[in-house]
This record gives sequence, structure tokens and C-alpha cells, in this order.
Amino acid sequence: TDRYAVLGHPIGHSKSPLIHSLFAQATGQDIGYTAIETPLDGFDDTVLGFRASGGRGLNVSLPFKLQAFQIATEPSERARLAGAANCLKFDGPDRILADNFDGVGLVNDIQRNLGFPLAGKRVLLLGAGGATRGALLPIAGERPALLAVANRTPEKAHALRHDFAAHVPLQTGGYDTLVGLSFDMIINATSTGLSQEALPLPDGLFAPGALAYDMVYGKGLTPFLKQAQAAGVSRVADGVGMLVEQAAEAFEWWRGVRPDTRPVVKQLTVPLV
Ligand code: ATR
Repeated sequence: TDRYAVLGHPIGHSKSPLIHSLFAQATGQDIGYTAIETPLDGFDDTVLGFRASGGRGLNVSLPFKLQAFQIATEPSERARLAGAANCLKFDGPDRILADNFDGVGLVNDIQRNLGFPLAGKRVLLLGAGGATRGALLPIAGERPALLAVANRTPEKAHALRHDFAAHVPLQTGGYDTLVGLSFDMIINATSTGLSQEALPLPDGLFAPGALAYDMVYGKGLTPFLKQAQAAGVSRVADGVGMLVEQAAEAFEWWRGVRPDTRPVVKQLTVPLV
């Protein structure tokens, strides 16, 4: 049995062990997968200890995605651009490969599960932290008409525009710069879904038929999704499909087998109320 795990702090309510055991069952792969509560000052020790005891790979959750990138000996291009990794693979005693599947998981959820093509759409990301960093390249690859980032601290959004300039043309600013604009897809990549705070979104921000997407999961209707509904948006989604899709990328990377995500998304999706 090859062993894998997810590291995080806190990690108690992680759905990753369930998701990977469903994938393993469906594909006939013999793996073990556990959740490891990792001390804030003990990330590297936990990773190296897991490898030393025979572990084959790790998923990495908050707040360790930066450290996961730093411990890698061979990070992928998208992990390098994000400056963060959410998945590690051990190759012998020396090589630690890292990748970041959050963005591709988001895009696959939006396009395949929710049936919302990004090509030609006006897309707005709220927030300028690691979640947005990981999402920019995969979204840009789908050729949206416009990709914008708004953040409470505008300088952090502008810094993203600078960092990604060679890869993605970005419009950036504070929430006040959104007045008079509208978007077909608005993705909340701030941490406000966890803290239940509302964002200062101007009227008219959601175009008719827009999709509102909150990257958090298991929080029901977040303040952001409630704001969207109050603005007349009927298509709202949380990040449970993104979680399953990034897990499928990890599973395929580790095992060489692509699991079918649809039944797992279906099993984990709960009505948003
Ligand atoms: P992550 O890696 O999950 O993105 P992060 O780097 O701490 O986490 O970023 C959190 C994001 O949520 C930031 O964009 C932050 O805005 P600031 O850069 O201005 O701090 C945003 N955020 C958190 N709480 C917020 C709030 N109450 N209102 C608006 N934005 C908020």
C-alpha cells in the first residue's frame, strides 16, 4: 500500500481523505491516505518524516502552500509563478517534485462541472493572495476577454499585474475602481468566506447571467454569494468542485490514472442555503 497524506493547520475537517479513498476504490488503486495536523513551526519536519517513513506524496493545505514550494527541489512552472505548491511527490531520497493544481482544479470545475466556458468572458478575481496567484495562469489559458483583479489593498493587486506581466495582461485596482464595470464571472479568492465578512462591491458588478463562485467550501452561502443573489445572480457555486478537481489532478500525477470526478462531486455537493 502506497501512503499519501494531506498536511494543514487546522486539518480536522478536510475532505481530502474521503475524496482520495473514493478515487482509489473507483480505479482499483491500493493506497492509504490520511490527514496530518501539522504544527505551524513543524512543516519541513513533518514532510521529511513522512517521506522517511515511506510516504510517496503529500497534498498541502493552508497555511503551508508557500513552504511546500520552498521545500521542493523541482517545482513546476505554475508552482513557481504562483510561488506556492499544493502537491508534493517524492522521487527517491533526494528529489521533491512540487506542483500547484488549485488553478486547474478551479478552471475544470467552472467549465466541466458547472458548464460555464471562460473563453470570451469578462472575469474578475476578488483578492490578491495565494488563491488568486494560483488561479491566474490557468484562467488566462482559457482566453477570457478580460481578466481583472480587485483587492482591498490595491498595491497587492498591482504587484500581481507586474509579476504576471510576461504571461497575463491584468487589470488591477481597489474595489472603488470597479464602479461602472460588470463581469460575467466573479470569483471570490479572498478569505472572507471563512470570516463571514462582506466585500464592498458596487451595484451592477454582476452582468446578466453571471456566475458567482466562492473558492471556500462547506460554509454554505457566504456573504459574497449572498451579495450575488441579492444582485439577482442565479448561478452561485462554492469551491467543493474545485477541491475534487485539484484532488483528481494530484491522484493522476501520483498514480498515472485519471479518476472520474463526477460521482465524487455529486456525492460531496450540498445545496447552498
Ligand atoms: P490566500 O493565500 O488564501 O489568498 P492571503 O494571502 O492571506 O490568503 O490573502 C487573503 C486575501 O483576502 C487578501 O487579498 C486580503 O486582502 P488584503 O490583501 O487587502 O489583506 C483578502 N481579505 C481578507 N479579509 C478581507 C476583508 N475583510 N475584506 C476584503 N478583503 C479581505
